[in-house]
Amino acid sequence: MSAPTTITAPIHARGLVRRYGSRNALDGVDLDLGAGVTGLLGRNGAGKTTLLRSLATDLDVSAGRLRVLGRDPGDAAERTEIRRRLGYLPQNPEFYPHFTAFGLLDYMAVLKELGGRRARHDEIRRSLDRVGLTERRHTRVRRLSGGMRQRLALAAALMGDPELLLLDEPTVGLDPEQRILFRNLVSELAVRSTVVLSTHQIEDVSALCQRVVCLDRGRVVFDGTPATLIGRARGHVWEQTGRPGDGVTTWRLADGRYRVLTTRRGEPAPSGDRTAVEPTLEDAYLLLTGVQRGAR
Ligand SMILES: Nc1ncnc2c1ncn2[C@@H]1O[C@H](COP(=O)(O)OP(=O)(O)O)[C@@H](O)[C@H]1O
Ligand SMILES: [Mg+2]
Repeated sequence: MSAPTTITAPIHARGLVRRYGSRNALDGVDLDLGAGVTGLLGRNGAGKTTLLRSLATDLDVSAGRLRVLGRDPGDAAERTEIRRRLGYLPQNPEFYPHFTAFGLLDYMAVLKELGGRRARHDEIRRSLDRVGLTERRHTRVRRLSGGMRQRLALAAALMGDPELLLLDEPTVGLDPEQRILFRNLVSELAVRSTVVLSTHQIEDVSALCQRVVCLDRGRVVFDGTPATLIGRARGHVWEQTGRPGDGVTTWRLADGRYRVLTTRRGEPAPSGDRTAVEPTLEDAYLLLTGVQRGAR
């Protein structure tokens, strides 16, 4: 028998726990993530930021095993090695307001030990160009709009084409055109890198992610492809003319009909006005995180 080959995924987590006081923000997370784009979904407070911060070595975990790019974030030397190889966009990036856009990236590039001065500056110019901020390179951070700051934070995360890119709600504050630009950037990078992004924008996931991980109260409640998640919702989504009764999640559509999500599968239509419809990823997500907790 040949020796077993151990190929460690860029992210490998087993039984990951992060406690805040007596609460577990992460409550036993098992995850193996490889190349491509993974979308992290979950309500506010589900643990997305805590997970991303742990992966970014910005936060120590309380228990469990974590390897990032094959290394142990709990070890100081290995942590430094991980940080050199990852790009991280925090949920609320805080910048030094008096820095210019270029100056800020230069400062961060120095911390990341990105090459000599010339190579570093070339990389900064490339990053600013990728996010459409070249003309703002001499503008001070405090004078940038929210969307521009978000793009600057993205440029910082992209510098050096990291093997692992962790993005916490990266599309907040971006207009539709910028979101397309963002998607193109991320999908280009994901050919070679592992990208994990959290979002409340289901369209980002539909457009970008080969894989969806859904968190609920610190646990992974779904891990699979968007198509699999949608498949789970089939038979649970209806549209009807009259206002539905209790026990379902429902909203009124622009044409006056109601879209209905129910955990009860294949109920007989009580009247002719009720039609089963193909679920969207958003329906599937809502069913997973909302209705599963006891339909009301
Ligand atoms: N620094 C902190 N101190 C105490 N509790 C925290 C802290 N950060 C996060 N939490 C708690 O951990 C849980 C997960 O939060 P978070 O990871 O920010 O969720 P998400 O990003 O999915 O909205 C929440 O209950 C939140 O209140
Ligand atoms: Mg968050």
